[in-house]
Amino acid sequence: MRFFLLFIPILFISGCTDNRTTLKTLQSEINYLNAKNDSLEKEIQSVKPGLGDLMLMIQVHHNKLYFAGREGNWPLAQFEHDEIMEILKQAEDIEKERSEVKLFHVMIYPQLDSIQQAVKSKDGDRFNSAFTNLTNACNNCHTNTKFNFNKIIIPERPPYSNQEF
Ligand code: HEC
Repeated sequence: MRFFLLFIPILFISGCTDNRTTLKTLQSEINYLNAKNDSLEKEIQSVKPGLGDLMLMIQVHHNKLYFAGREGNWPLAQFEHDEIMEILKQAEDIEKERSEVKLFHVMIYPQLDSIQQAVKSKDGDRFNSAFTNLTNACNNCHTNTKFNFNKIIIPERPPYSNQEF
């Protein structure tokens, strides 16, 4: 009986110490994971393209889209349309903190849909008016978001001399 009375507190104390060790280990693992998470987050921020970088890519595709449509090169026009869509979706995914990406839905997707219709029907006139509307959509958003100094126009020349339209 006496032995038991001694044994119980010993078990209790050693149990507590065990728990405390486990808690300490867990806490230091959590700290390590938090620090790793922070450094990964920093790395992502430093390598991911900003909205301006993505817009620069859209600008090139906007230009190529025009010449593809003007020359009736419908497969290329389709491709350029899809590239613009892809970059806009990418911007929605990775630039969540930018409020402007929430405007794509109302400010540019409908105009891109009209481009899609014109390309599908291989209709040059329809394409021209859809392209003017698309270009206006670019500028409407730039104006609304205080970036109106980025004025987009119907291109005069293709962006590169080494591609045939
Ligand atoms: C819903 C809003 C929105 C739409 C639509 C939009 N843009 Fe932009 N654009 C922006 C914002 C915001 C910026 C400024 C980004 C920044 O902070 O770097 C920008 C910047 C730009 C820039 C400047 C990039 C540079 O470094 O020179 C270009 C070029 C551009 N946009 C092209 C276009 C084209 C072409 C279209 C249409 C096909 C378009 N944008 C449609 C919001 C929009």
